[in-house]
Amino acid sequence: TDINEAVLEGARMLNAHPREGSASILILLTDGDPTSGVTILETIQSNVRKAIADKFPLYCLGFGFDVNFDFLKTMSLQNNGVARRIYEDSDADLQLKGFYKEVATPLLTDVTMIYMGGTNLTQTNFSQYYNGSEIVVAGQITDNDIETFTPQVLAISGTRKVTFSESNVTVESTETVSDGLIQRVWAYLTVKQLLEKE
Ligand SMILES: *[C@@H]1O[C@H](CO)[C@@H](O)[C@H](O)[C@H]1NC(C)=O
Ligand SMILES: *[C@@H]1O[C@H](CO)[C@@H](O)[C@H](O)[C@H]1NC(C)=O
Ligand SMILES: *[C@@H]1O[C@H](CO)[C@@H](O)[C@H](O)[C@H]1NC(C)=O
Repeated sequence: TDINEAVLEGARMLNAHPREGSASILILLTDGDPTSGVTILETIQSNVRKAIADKFPLYCLGFGFDVNFDFLKTMSLQNNGVARRIYEDSDADLQLKGFYKEVATPLLTDVTMIYMGGTNLTQTNFSQYYNGSEIVVAGQITDNDIETFTPQVLAISGTRKVTFSESNVTVESTETVSDGLIQRVWAYLTVKQLLEKE
């Protein structure tokens, strides 16, 4: 299992053949630890980061129990992706199909959410937005003033830059659930994103 060479070769191919209007995604499928070529985990991670340079996400699929899942997870998070464990049960094909469906249709890349009049925001930049997924940003409206609050989304769709904005948003809040719930969503996202950074 030469994970270093495999991922670097994948990155080399994507870098050598960029396609206008399509989003590149690198998916590593592995059932083992790095056992040949470069085997020092930190060296592999640093090589991979350099080769990918934030240009596309790396997803890692680890099959079975012989994988070092923490290593795969870290490497994915360092490259804007996520790692999944695929259990070698009778439904391994369904698990693969489910994963593929999630990333099959990137609709937007380089998504930036801008909130004028917002503060204490959780992560606002995302490398991809996939059909059927959602992006959640939590934060606080400065001065509790909805009038001065203008959300805006910048992104790339195909080859075009797109901007979505809504200047006069009315936020319907169901009083009974909103209070504690939104605070917990903010806390949850903040802690999760800090853990991912770490
Ligand atoms: C988010 O993206 C924008 C433009 O795409 C950039 O100016 C900004 O520095 C980025 N912010 C972070 C925290 O990465
Ligand atoms: C996004 O997903 C929906 C529901 O599965 C589907 O109807 C729609 O055609 C998809 N859009 C694109 C651009 O693939
Ligand atoms: C903003 O929305 C409010 C309530 O829906 C409406 O009364 C007001 O006229 C709108 N203002 C503008 C500038 O569109």
